[in-house]
Amino acid sequence: MKKILVATEKPFAPVAVEGIRKVAEQSGYELILLEKYTAAEELLTAAEQVDALIVRSDKITSAVLDAARNLKIVVRAGAGYDNIDLDAATTRGVVVMNTPGQNSNAVAELALGMMVYQARGHFNGKPGTELKGKKLGVHAFGAVGRIVAKIAQGFGMEIYAYDPFIDAEQIRSAGVNPVSAVEDLYSACQYISLHIPANEQTRKSIGERLLSLMPDDGVLVNTARKEVIDEEGLLRVMESKPGFRYVSDIAPDSALVFEEKYPGRFFFTPKKMGAQTQEANVNAGIAAAQQIIDFIEKGVTRFQVNK
Ligand code: 3PG
Repeated sequence: MKKILVATEKPFAPVAVEGIRKVAEQSGYELILLEKYTAAEELLTAAEQVDALIVRSDKITSAVLDAARNLKIVVRAGAGYDNIDLDAATTRGVVVMNTPGQNSNAVAELALGMMVYQARGHFNGKPGTELKGKKLGVHAFGAVGRIVAKIAQGFGMEIYAYDPFIDAEQIRSAGVNPVSAVEDLYSACQYISLHIPANEQTRKSIGERLLSLMPDDGVLVNTARKEVIDEEGLLRVMESKPGFRYVSDIAPDSALVFEEKYPGRFFFTPKKMGAQTQEANVNAGIAAAQQIIDFIEKGVTRFQVNK
């Protein structure tokens, strides 16, 4: 019997695990569960006998791939696959996939939620501001960015988007103003919501150069990855613009500096929360299980990211 390991340091909702189990068992696969593990060795041991692996932000290193001698496929139940050593997987003939779009709504809702939370002074009882009429810059118009724009339209925000990989007409047809230079997005908008992946091109790409273009009361909303921020540059902007705020789904490495120097001007989730809803877990988890079965049984390689 072929084995699928679900290895999640941050577990899926139980309803999602049940859904994944059902999909696996209906196709005659055994499901093995490793949740809330604390040491990488636990993952190495659990991966030894399995044919397929479903993970979230769990780190899939060459050591994991070496330990998993029968492994054919890893599916990242989610969008960003910066946690997987793609070269090491490719070298070992292991297919890597993601499940694009499956958790986008959850991430987009959190981005807007964090904007409201910051605009209302962390619900501290004092007068805050509204999102209505404010300019929002959506940095990258992929699956999450599009939903952020749609929800923000409901709030009455004026929305701009920058995405060099998407046709301006497509952005316009969503009722959003396309901008052709990233600098224009940052200088036009009070709110910037980041939806870029973390890769060699984007790491530390959001720093003083772009953020200093934002208005003095600018708010940077990061539900993407902390790695895309140049934290030294961000801290310089926090210092030079006393009204500037940073809200992020997961704390930056320099969180202590924010706590000491900029109270009330930041909010960081204690653990990455964007995709942490029952619905997103069900969508991404079941899609991952189905993609594994389709690949092993029929050779379907749609969503493979290491072709
Ligand atoms: C993603 O890339 O899909 C999101 O960041 C979600 O990550 P998570 O599954 O670790 O919550």
